[in-house]
Amino acid sequence: MKKYDFDQVIDRSATCALKCDALQSLFGTSGLTPLWVADLDFAVCPDITEALMHRVEHPVYGYSSTPDSYWQSIIDWQKNRHNFDIAREELAFVPGVVRGVAYAINYFTNRGDKVLIQQPVYHPFKMVIEGNERVVVNNPLKPTADGYEMDLEHFREVVETERPKMMILCNPHNPVGIQWTADVMRQVAKICRENGVIVVSDEIHGDLMLYGKPHIPFVSVGEDAEAVAITLGAPSKTFNIPGLVSSWMVIKDKKLREPFYNWMSTNEFSSPTMFATLGAEVAYTHGGEWLNQMIDYIEGSIAMVEDYVAQHIPQIKVVRPQASFLIWLDCRELNLTQPQLVELFVKKAHLALNDGTMFGKEGEGFMRLNVGSPRKVILEALDHLADAVNTLK
Ligand SMILES: Cc1ncc(COP(=O)(O)O)c(C=O)c1O
Repeated sequence: MKKYDFDQVIDRSATCALKCDALQSLFGTSGLTPLWVADLDFAVCPDITEALMHRVEHPVYGYSSTPDSYWQSIIDWQKNRHNFDIAREELAFVPGVVRGVAYAINYFTNRGDKVLIQQPVYHPFKMVIEGNERVVVNNPLKPTADGYEMDLEHFREVVETERPKMMILCNPHNPVGIQWTADVMRQVAKICRENGVIVVSDEIHGDLMLYGKPHIPFVSVGEDAEAVAITLGAPSKTFNIPGLVSSWMVIKDKKLREPFYNWMSTNEFSSPTMFATLGAEVAYTHGGEWLNQMIDYIEGSIAMVEDYVAQHIPQIKVVRPQASFLIWLDCRELNLTQPQLVELFVKKAHLALNDGTMFGKEGEGFMRLNVGSPRKVILEALDHLADAVNTLK
């Protein structure tokens, strides 16, 4: 079996990598180790590169059709990997998951309508809601001894009093890495169906389940979920191809689906581009073993971070994710204000992580660490962080 190399340090400078290029404008200096934007620093599965190179060699890049094999590759992947049954007509292409969220907000809600999110959560949700002149309703995650849970009591109360038209569920949840249980999602689905709330379930991290835990698509938990769910997924995080901009949407309910898909198709929002479908199809068809090895590597890196932090920076607590390559670091015991915490990471440790408050005020005292880099890079970053924390003593 081919062994993929995730230890290789790849220079991403001069490749228009957002992670590197936006350091100066966002952090005020470019000399930082970038451990923020949620992409991976690993080389993709070589089959993807080979297929793209082969197509690039043909000198005509005209309008392209979308082969049936592209759609089938998504259907087969979801069935084989997550036992998730998708019929062809339920599936649509979307050029990015956030755009899928934005299309749904624009189509199904009006200016001034409320949309529910659960902070701390992936910050573009709030930006898309507010940028489209809709109103955010928050059901904050409830902290527990070792992580978070969904506050279902408050959820019902907020749905019944604030009357949101839509909810954006993050499943698994970024930044805290939780895969919601079928039982919790069934309760969410029931409350939403009873109150006419559409649930947009962002499952972009669903292929990245850790420690053998299964991914449970929200729409799969029962009839209530099927009636309200718009599922969004992508091969982008899974196979490290977000630059190809290839995502998909699934809607099971015909009444919800047909007019919306017609609107997307009329506006050409759901028209794929050639490299997007090619990269996705090859990834879904040939990338399974690469992904298995990548997940093993990430599990090892998380263990490495946990051990290192427990030994050398015990004031920081690692919230172990159930999915994906993002670690939520609880830095509250450092007793710093958020600006001081950010300064510690940026100015003293020379690291670019996501400031926890990006994800909502509930993220105060937290930072999000992306461990999708070679372990050597992560270890060096941890050494810098430990040195910086020591200066506080
Ligand atoms: C939960 C979540 N949704 C969506 C995205 C971005 O997806 P896209 O680039 O397809 O819009 C990310 C990227 O970090 C994410 O974490």
